[in-house]
Amino acid sequence: MEVRAPKGTVDMLPDVARVWEHLLRVAQELFARYGYEPIYTPIFEHTEVFTRGIGEATDIVSKEMYTFLDRADRSLTLRPEGTASVVRAALEHNLVPKGAAAKLYYAGAMFRYERPQKGRMRQFWQIGVEALGMAEPSIDAEVIALLVRFFEAAGIPSANTRLLVNSMGDEHCRPAYREELAAFISAHAADLCDECNRRADTNPLRAFDCKNPTCRTVMAEAPLLRDRLCEECGTHYGSVKHGLDELGIVYEEDPSLVRGLDYYTRTVFEIQAEGLGAQNAIGGGGRYDRLMEEYGGPSTPGLGFALGFERTMLAMQAAGVTVPELPRAEVYVARVDDSVATTVFSACQALRDAGIAAEMDHQARSLKSQFKQADRLSALLTVIVGPEEAAAGEVTVRDMRTREEARVALDDLIPRVDALLRRDHR
Ligand code: HAM
Repeated sequence: MEVRAPKGTVDMLPDVARVWEHLLRVAQELFARYGYEPIYTPIFEHTEVFTRGIGEATDIVSKEMYTFLDRADRSLTLRPEGTASVVRAALEHNLVPKGAAAKLYYAGAMFRYERPQKGRMRQFWQIGVEALGMAEPSIDAEVIALLVRFFEAAGIPSANTRLLVNSMGDEHCRPAYREELAAFISAHAADLCDECNRRADTNPLRAFDCKNPTCRTVMAEAPLLRDRLCEECGTHYGSVKHGLDELGIVYEEDPSLVRGLDYYTRTVFEIQAEGLGAQNAIGGGGRYDRLMEEYGGPSTPGLGFALGFERTMLAMQAAGVTVPELPRAEVYVARVDDSVATTVFSACQALRDAGIAAEMDHQARSLKSQFKQADRLSALLTVIVGPEEAAAGEVTVRDMRTREEARVALDDLIPRVDALLRRDHR
């Protein structure tokens, strides 16, 4: 057996898992202020949820999905993202009846069979929101502002990030533009890479994402959807930008921002961070007003974003942000010898039952190494239980910060410990 996690996956060890849980708390607190409620969908879905939702011609669907047959020969896929699942669930459970709206957030692992590199994993973690039922451009600005505020709350200085926005148009203006772009690509076939040429038929907009320098030079001359938006899309986009201005959110318009999922209509956006190398998008999203209809549901506008945990953490590291460690033990209960083992055992439990983080030794350590362990855990107080004190119904409480010691009646231990801990405003 190979004792190694599969390629493109990592174990979230305590130091990293602590940051993930911290970001989750930041998200929960912040998203609640904007009216979002949690939703958890299955990690796998019927494959069709993604092929229809994300689009057959996208990289995600055409080459990155973990698809398998279950024992009853159903085709299932590990979710590569959260939006398709949330919209599927909203339709299935009628979360957005006509005229209603829903604001939902989620967090969890996503799976894409990509070539692993810094900030690009095969199993990665996202936190995302989806706002369903709202077509007004004010919600676009609100959702974008929320993503900006999240990264600020995570401690990443806004000077380290760039917010890019664009409009992808809709079913009225995009098809004609797509044709025009496909024709442009065909006309420049000789100067473009094979991949871009293939994209002319399937997904011409993705040619803007090609990293090949020659393709980039050619695509810099390509017609832009921004200049071909229909009146409604143009007005909507203008209002989104106006909303961002109103909120004082700094953004850059990037007419070549196309994003890799087919469901987008109108507003798309991405936040990039400094110091991350090629995979610098820490979060992104957009509007998907036709997605619920794709699943056979009623016309229901929607938009949202997802942020990548690994990349957010890299951006936090680049900015020198540290997450405070929670105390693993506020109190360490030490045993002078085995005769007091039961007293130590129950005192430790009583402290925990009273809401205090307490730890004791389970490895038959000497008193000296129990003290060392108390230091390692950064315990603020050590309760020392010796045979004579225990016989008198007492223990010694040592304040590790001042080294002061006091004899305390066992019956009085909880209030005394509580008072000593609170003295430190903890
Ligand atoms: P996405 O741009 O594909 O959008 O992914 C969102 C974020 O997930 C990216 O900005 C990046 O930080 C992170 N990410 C994506 N792929 C990887 C990977 N292989 N390794 C590590 N991190 C990764 C979506 O997923 C859409 N569902 C966003 C959305 C929500 N649009 C509307 N609502």
